[in-house]
Amino acid sequence: MEKHPSFEELVAHLDDLLAPCLAQDWPNLPADRAEGVYVYGSDGRRYLDFLAGFGACNVGHNHPRVVAAAREQMERMVHAPLGVIAPETTLRLAWELGQITPGGADMFFFGNSGAEAVEGALKLARYVTGRRGIVAFLGGFHGRTMGAATVTTSKVKYRTGHGPFLPDVYFARFPYPYRSSAPDPSLTLRTSAEACAQEALEDIERLFEYVVAPEDVAAFLVEPIQGEGGYVIPPRSWLVALREICDRHGILLIDDEVQTGFGRSGEWFAAQVFGVEPDIVCLAKGIANGFPLGATAARREIMGRWGAASHGTTYGGNPISCAAALATLEVIRQENLLENACVQGGYMLEALGELEAESPIVGDVRGVGLMIAVEFVRPGTDKEPNPEAVRRILQRALDGGLLLYPCGHWTQTIRLIPPLTITRQQVDEGLDIFRQAVLAESA
Ligand SMILES: Cc1ncc(COP(=O)(O)O)c(C=O)c1O
Repeated sequence: MEKHPSFEELVAHLDDLLAPCLAQDWPNLPADRAEGVYVYGSDGRRYLDFLAGFGACNVGHNHPRVVAAAREQMERMVHAPLGVIAPETTLRLAWELGQITPGGADMFFFGNSGAEAVEGALKLARYVTGRRGIVAFLGGFHGRTMGAATVTTSKVKYRTGHGPFLPDVYFARFPYPYRSSAPDPSLTLRTSAEACAQEALEDIERLFEYVVAPEDVAAFLVEPIQGEGGYVIPPRSWLVALREICDRHGILLIDDEVQTGFGRSGEWFAAQVFGVEPDIVCLAKGIANGFPLGATAARREIMGRWGAASHGTTYGGNPISCAAALATLEVIRQENLLENACVQGGYMLEALGELEAESPIVGDVRGVGLMIAVEFVRPGTDKEPNPEAVRRILQRALDGGLLLYPCGHWTQTIRLIPPLTITRQQVDEGLDIFRQAVLAESA
């Protein structure tokens, strides 16, 4: 490469520059501009972004009010180590988050990412309960740092070669109604979901009976809707039962709302969709619309017992990120984005339901708000996952100008998570490309 390589040359050498764990991801689209629901490729093409920066850009890329707030803060103060300096935007954000975060959370530990929010939650739960056990759920994704990777089981490759992991972490089944291991065809959809919830609860009973006593468990860590694990929506009764088990045994319920939070589910948080209150909440992604920020949140009676200096950060709660987060919250309110997520999401589910009826490879369509997924199966099988079809559909959609990303244990599912600002016309534009890609694969 030349001494001052062009962007094209850098892209051509991407495999030499980025660690293969990143460079071999999908699709590594060369781009240096994004606006609203679009990413502009350096190939001169405009791509409709149905990934929204891994679900971080809920109010659309480079929302002018978020950018302006960040710019204004940047000119005043870039960095402020919390505990030494107390910047206004960070304090104001804590107060604002206290108005909307579930479980009555009104105290916040700010970090930079989802994984850090999870690390904080695990440490806090152990610290305040004096117990060591953590129960997480199979298929869950909580991040890549060592503690977060310990509780992550959506794909075994995220763990392979990285152990040993944290001790005293246990797993129980997450109810996956579409793939419940004991579906009874004579049951209605609702009762079969309940049976699936029951089966998952029996797993916890077995865990308590044979493996770890509930009085040794500090916390349950759960995504109210599994994200990377496949956009799996549990029956509400299961989450209600988790809450009851926690209450019975003095266990803390940690909600990982990193992907579900900040309007993605059509409510501020998925906990509000289900009406189940957590004790600790992990926040990141949509919190600051792409600026690095995360938070561990809890009520004062829990967070207030985390001793001075027992946890800390250099960059967490960065004042620029917090300014961006404050503007993001304002945009969500002023542009009625919770409502738009429900309206556009409902419309998408209906349209995708029609596609399901038309295509033998669409096994399931599911979603809440604008957190939508389509699961692909091999036709003529008993729901055999179809990752090959997913790969080809992703490529066809990209060729057609639509950026999508897969999820699911077998990479058999495609998530559709556009910014919450998306219009009906843009939804139609994206659905049309997706439909063509799926039908070409179904032929
Ligand atoms: C539910 C959930 N928790 C935690 C994380 C980790 O977040 P980050 O990548 O910001 O560390 C993710 C990321 O996808 C996530 O979806």
